[in-house]
Amino acid sequence: MSQLIERPGPEVPLLADLPTVPLPDRVLVVEPRFYDVEYVINPHMEGNVGQVNRFEARHQWRHLVEAYRGIGQTVDVLEGQPLLPDLVFCANQSLPVPPGLLTEGSGAIMSIMRRARREPEVAHIQGFLAERGVHIAHLDPWSVPSMEGTGDGAWHPGRALLWGGVGPRSRREAWERVSAMTGVPVALLRLVDRRFYHLDTCLSFVDEQTAVVFPGAFDDAGRELLASLVPRLVEVNEVEAMNMACNGHSPDGRHFLVQKGSPRCNAQLRELGIEVIELETDQFLLSGGSVYCMKLHWWS
Ligand code: ARG
Repeated sequence: MSQLIERPGPEVPLLADLPTVPLPDRVLVVEPRFYDVEYVINPHMEGNVGQVNRFEARHQWRHLVEAYRGIGQTVDVLEGQPLLPDLVFCANQSLPVPPGLLTEGSGAIMSIMRRARREPEVAHIQGFLAERGVHIAHLDPWSVPSMEGTGDGAWHPGRALLWGGVGPRSRREAWERVSAMTGVPVALLRLVDRRFYHLDTCLSFVDEQTAVVFPGAFDDAGRELLASLVPRLVEVNEVEAMNMACNGHSPDGRHFLVQKGSPRCNAQLRELGIEVIELETDQFLLSGGSVYCMKLHWWS
């Protein structure tokens, strides 16, 4: 049975009533050796084919890895692969599942990429997770058109609740299946602005109480649902949202790693006592991705 939540109402569970789950304990990144903009599959990539400076990209990626390690995260590094320029965005090929939901141990539901060009990436991430004992599950491609992992699926920190983006990359059918497979309710958020093509471009959770959000990317039902379930919403304006302020990542609820240059959003976070770590990821912005997209946060 699946439980999809589409708008606030009496049947929507209270956060405090949902079972607790641990935070993911490991960070995976993929080396940007073969990273490039070779094709255009989101509005950010337009005009950027062939524009990546790989030397700069590598440099920026290294700083990201150092930043994660600097705040005590365990980081694994997977090699890049020729012909897969977007594999560096390893948030997209799977949806890690907390221990105890798919099986006793931790799990992952593999993605069905919207574009054929990115489909071969999935096997590389699957191989990495399977080798480490993660239980691998698949969606049925006959009933699910596409689902792009943590690009569109965001676990509510600490609670058995998933937020599912419904937009250009992930479909409602996917979240129906994911809910049935895990027994977890999925709160659906429709993405209505093509520039915010993945949920992680317009929403990022910091902790159980707090999320960074660009309200303009959602419809009324989505905005209302967020307001009803998330006690503290840090609202980002359009300029900062386009600077990928919502694509930051908090692995621990205390730090927020994010593209530099969103002073309003970052000041609000600092006022809440969150340590904001600003990084330069402009070579990855050329492809429509930043910090959140460049890692997979998974349960070992
Ligand atoms: N060029 C990639 C794509 O369009 C960027 C993916 C960014 N990842 C993310 N989680 N938003 O598919």
